Amino acid sequence: MKVLVTGGAGFIGSNFVRHLLSSNGDAEVVVIDRLTYAGRRDNLDGLPEDRLEFVEADICDRAAVANSLKGCSALINFAAESHVDRSVDSPEDFIRTDVTGTFVLLEACRDAGIRMVQISTDEVYGSIDEGTFTEQSHLDPSSPYSASKASGDLLVSAFHKTYGLEALIVRASNNYGTRQHPEKLIPLTILNALHGDPIPIYGDGKQVRNWLFVEDFCRAIETVLKTGLAGEVYNVGGPDEVENIEVVERILDLTGADRDLISFVADRPGHDVRYSLSSGKTEALGWKAEVSFSEGLERTVEWYRENRAWWEPVRSGEYREWYLKQYGVSLTED
Ligand code: NAD
Ligand code: TYD
Repeated sequence: MKVLVTGGAGFIGSNFVRHLLSSNGDAEVVVIDRLTYAGRRDNLDGLPEDRLEFVEADICDRAAVANSLKGCSALINFAAESHVDRSVDSPEDFIRTDVTGTFVLLEACRDAGIRMVQISTDEVYGSIDEGTFTEQSHLDPSSPYSASKASGDLLVSAFHKTYGLEALIVRASNNYGTRQHPEKLIPLTILNALHGDPIPIYGDGKQVRNWLFVEDFCRAIETVLKTGLAGEVYNVGGPDEVENIEVVERILDLTGADRDLISFVADRPGHDVRYSLSSGKTEALGWKAEVSFSEGLERTVEWYRENRAWWEPVRSGEYREWYLKQYGVSLTED
């Protein structure tokens, strides 16, 4: 098996490459990644070099994509602008990568006649006060990020219907785990707690997310890649739904930091109150989430404690400027 993984130097993509190479001794992976602020070549360090090729390129670059696809039997698309707050601040990059980039990949897979798995998000369904989203729920995105992902998904479905492309969509709930950029709630809270920096909670903090440990998600993607049916959507939700305030309080307890660090700030515009995803269709393929939120959170806090060399360059780089712009306060210097 040889697969092309786009966005493989980011959080979920790099965890997936690690997972695929370790659980399939004969697998080969080609990664395409533009190495934006969110992508890091060293996220792929320590993996077998004879089975991994890295290409620094943009998914909008047709020639680079076509060239990298040679000899591959499938493409898994993780490449995206992925942070809701950045999409509120400057949406254009989201349209370029998440919509046009997805289109370029679809064309390349069509030309090569290979399977494409689009990695998407529960955010395309919008917010749900009660009950759970299924694959039949209609799309109702709230942010420029989720609208760009929904647009990409619609192109994927259309390419299947129109051209018979063997394309599938996997929609996941909020992931967390190792190597997640600290702009996202869980690593932001862990690092701020370790530094004694205030922890910004939007609005009343009662929004609910359906947390999924990244290693569980990587197993689900492998399952869908190998056994999912073309033209189908597969939802992958986490085992626990937790309010943001509780997430933050649990991290403060795990790090031994003071609850006074909690700082309620202005709400995110268009903030979705609750996500909840049913995974029955993916479970019918034989997958099941194995890591509870308590266990996954402990493991994640431990990883950030032990991997200062990973996050120090992030906290001292572009992220400092983003943080100041977004929250109006500076992060403590390391
Ligand atoms: P991430 O921001 O950590 O990684 C994105 C990667 O894509 C980075 O390595 C970046 O350099 C690369 N990239 C961005 N634009 C590119 C371009 N034009 N060409 C090539 N590479 C480019 O994101 P993530 O959290 O790992 O998310 C991966 C995918 O999973 C995304 O499609 C996202 O929408 C989806 N998803 C994420 C979550 C989550 O909780 N993080 C949940 C559900 C779905
Ligand atoms: P985030 O990690 O950005 O993921 P998403 O927006 O894709 O769900 O946010 C998770 C939740 O945490 C969301 O309800 C917004 C909230 N949040 C805060 O309260 N403060 C913050 O500083 C951030 C980044 C997020």
